[in-house]
Amino acid sequence: MKLKHLALSALGVAGVAFFGTVGYVHLFDKEQAQKALAQGSFTAEQANIANVFYSNGCQYCHTSSAELPFYSKLPIVSQFMAEDIKKGTRTFLLDETIAGLKDPNKLSEVNLAKLEKVLINNEMPIAQFIHFHWGSRPDEAEKERVLTWIREQRQAHFLPKNTQGTNAQNLVQPIPDKLETNTAKVALGDALYHDGRLSGDGSIQCHSCHLLDQGGVDNLATATGINGQKGGINAPTVFNAVFNKAQFWDGRAKDLAAQAGGPPLNPVEMGSHSWEEIIAKLEQDDAFKKQFLAIYPNISEATITDAIAEFEKTLITPNSAFDRYLKGDEKALTAQQVRGYELFKTHKCDTCHTGSAMGGQSYEYMGLAHDYFQARGTPLTDADQGRFAHTKDPADMHKFKVPTLRNIALTPPYMHDARTSDLKEAIKIMLYFQSDKTLPEKDVNDMAAFLESLTGEYQGKLLKNESLKK
Ligand code: HEC
Ligand code: HEC
Ligand code: HEC
Repeated sequence: MKLKHLALSALGVAGVAFFGTVGYVHLFDKEQAQKALAQGSFTAEQANIANVFYSNGCQYCHTSSAELPFYSKLPIVSQFMAEDIKKGTRTFLLDETIAGLKDPNKLSEVNLAKLEKVLINNEMPIAQFIHFHWGSRPDEAEKERVLTWIREQRQAHFLPKNTQGTNAQNLVQPIPDKLETNTAKVALGDALYHDGRLSGDGSIQCHSCHLLDQGGVDNLATATGINGQKGGINAPTVFNAVFNKAQFWDGRAKDLAAQAGGPPLNPVEMGSHSWEEIIAKLEQDDAFKKQFLAIYPNISEATITDAIAEFEKTLITPNSAFDRYLKGDEKALTAQQVRGYELFKTHKCDTCHTGSAMGGQSYEYMGLAHDYFQARGTPLTDADQGRFAHTKDPADMHKFKVPTLRNIALTPPYMHDARTSDLKEAIKIMLYFQSDKTLPEKDVNDMAAFLESLTGEYQGKLLKNESLKK
């Protein structure tokens, strides 16, 4: 790191001396900023925000297509630049935020969170860039402008509605007490969730792998489906899945109904051959048919999955100790848990694990700071591809939908590959592989105590998982 820094500074001095134009890069930045602003067709207010990014050079490392200053073509420098761009675009894409300036639907809660933290901590642009490029970091007025905008966007678009204790200054929000649902559909969905007829031989229900008395998971490394077949990836919880931006580790289902269409015909999960087969079984049951047709015009894949999705909207877990704390009950957390929450924020866990569900809003590269898969030392599997499996975009390789941290104490083993069943170990993995940190045991214990405060209530009772006590 030091060497790289020195080499860059030396090259920077040499480069600037050679061209004899200290002003060159500034001129270049200004031109680039003006060009981008002119092309962006922004309102005056939007241009003000965008200008903070462009005039501080954020686009050089956080878009894949920016025009770079002359020195970036020098040997060695070009390698460093390429590395910075690779790392920069892997963790944060400015294009998405610029698009979100104009259309709030394109905003990402996670991008706003990441941006907020680097501005407050004065972390960007990275030091090498400042030295070499003679660049600058956003000044106080610029910071204030962007931070105000971020909090306005969070307030307007991301805080859960009708919920006590929300606060646009926080990256994590309480879970709403209740979502609007259609009671009759929920009852049908509840029955279908526990109905073996969705599976080929009647033996498997949704509930077989997502047990509601086991934190919404099966606590197995990989699930066991029909005929004892093993799946390839750890099962995430169904609790609070309704808050996910998309479903599955790779986000291949756009919502809960689309997700519920998957398992019944999956040959290693429920193993039905067709929806016709499932529908025929359900139609033979007069009582069920009558109940179903009182609500839906027919029994079909679309109506079955709609009912299950409606039921899953009730699988939310409000009123955890942490939520009560956010709502103003300072005694709801122990002193150790409060310390853990502070560490959680200091180490930026709340950027990816953000919002009500503390996750589910973005796809993130596993191993930003160190190579997770190499360190694991076992061969790569299909499950390790993450979002790439769905999009086939090389930039999505090893990116996973961020799991929720709600009820995390009840849902071991952790990670898509069930790497560990120990929550403290999971925290250490995140610290090291995502943030390049190794903390004292005491801090890790505090963070674990905080994560235990995220266990919420289902149907008015604190969730439990008796199977973990064995
Ligand atoms: C010379 C390249 C470079 C420039 C210019 C640059 N960044 Fe970065 N940025 C990086 C790299 C590399 C990372 C990955 C983390 C690290 O190395 O610190 C990163 C990470 C980030 C992150 C994610 C950090 C996190 O912890 O989640 C954000 C947000 C970000 N940059 C915003 C900005 C903004 C805003 C600007 C302009 C004010 C900017 N960057 C300018 C290279 C750059
Ligand atoms: C054989 C075990 C098994 C069965 C049966 C099963 N699931 Fe899953 N479920 C999984 C696994 C494994 C995943 C993760 C798969 C992936 O991401 O590729 C998953 C993912 C999910 C998710 C996505 C959660 C998230 O955070 O992305 C939801 C929601 C879900 N299942 C609900 C259901 C419903 C509803 C049913 C019944 C129709 C069902 N599951 C049946 C094992 C199972
Ligand atoms: C850059 C985004 C990012 C940051 C920052 C981050 N995480 Fe994660 N977290 C993820 C992703 C992605 C996964 C899933 C990784 C996998 O399965 O391979 C994950 C998984 C986890 C899990 C396991 C969840 C489960 O159900 O399997 C825990 C616990 C966790 N993170 C805690 C933390 C803590 C504590 C911090 C702060 C030190 C943190 N994370 C920082 C993205 C992030």
